[in-house]
Amino acid sequence: EQINKGKYEHYMQKEIHEQPDSLTTTMRGRLIRGGSCKSKTVLLGGLKDHLKTIRRSRRIVFIGCGTSYNAALAARPILEELSGIPVTMEIASDLLDRRGPIYREDTAVFVSQSGETADTLNALEYALENGALCVGITNTVGSAIARNTHCGVHINAGAEIGVASTKAYTSQIVVMAMLALAIGSDTISTQARREAIIDGLFDLPNKIREVLQLDQEMEDLAKLLIAEQSLLVFGRGYNYATALEGALKVKEVALMHSEGMLAGEMKHGPLALVDENLPIIVIATHDTCFSKQQSVIQQLHARKGRLIVMCSKGDAASVDAGGSCRVIEVPHIEDCLQPVVNIVPLQLLAYHLTVLRGYNVDQPRNLAKSVTTE
Ligand code: AGP
Repeated sequence: EQINKGKYEHYMQKEIHEQPDSLTTTMRGRLIRGGSCKSKTVLLGGLKDHLKTIRRSRRIVFIGCGTSYNAALAARPILEELSGIPVTMEIASDLLDRRGPIYREDTAVFVSQSGETADTLNALEYALENGALCVGITNTVGSAIARNTHCGVHINAGAEIGVASTKAYTSQIVVMAMLALAIGSDTISTQARREAIIDGLFDLPNKIREVLQLDQEMEDLAKLLIAEQSLLVFGRGYNYATALEGALKVKEVALMHSEGMLAGEMKHGPLALVDENLPIIVIATHDTCFSKQQSVIQQLHARKGRLIVMCSKGDAASVDAGGSCRVIEVPHIEDCLQPVVNIVPLQLLAYHLTVLRGYNVDQPRNLAKSVTTE
């Protein structure tokens, strides 16, 4: 066990730090960048015979649980943008509780690290019965979801041992971004955008190396938050998923109450919680939602909120004019890949909070790595 952890104390810590490599493996052989613009493409072997059917779908439905659901939520905007197909989200258990409509003309995408999650598997059976094209995105070759879907993509993140999913999350987002690129690859009007994303993907492992240098800063932040009862995380757009996933990490391993919230919903209830004591992380990296997040920060500030703001490098002054926030500066990348960078400091924060609070990092109480019962 010690050998597998290498120089790290815990699997979760090792898996957070190996993300530059796991992402490289996820992309290996799948991104083609030649001399001319035309040769920048994505090759997903497991999907190539099904892309035409996917492009003709009436809807793409993402189905998953927990972190895998959050990864799909992070990828949803780029899927919508590049495919032009409506994309809906389903938590597997909720789809089954409602027996929600799934049609023959749907492409149902099942996202699961283990490929064995009971709720996701049951939803797959349901979608197959309803005649949808079923696509699997898993980390486990030969898993039930890999075997029972019509086609799919392995994320190739390597074995994930820590119960809290970290490197699988980032690899899942990258695979779904590549899925969006593959579906949209026949659309000339989005070619420049697709090429910019492919360039961003090539650059991603370096950006992750850079953001991992925040480790000490996140440990220092964890020391400040160690005794808190509760933590809110506000995000929107591409980073709504980052807010949900960051809060899930803190909740499941640090055993601290934490909620990820859509910043656009702030005035519709959560604002009542704001005071000088409750710590709030606001994700405000540079994208089309930036000015709206600046306004959220001002409104929270006006209510004396205790703010920790995540922003793009160089933006500290524009998110914290009064100098009263704690600021986490992260490297900038193409907007749809920013969630992959932004989750890393929150994974580190959850990890350090857990160690400092004295809880079991790799096996949080009451949780199993793979949830094989309903
Ligand atoms: C992640 O940190 C959790 N342990 C959990 O939410 C997990 O993502 C969920 O149970 C789904 O698992 P799967 O990806 O193996 O299907």
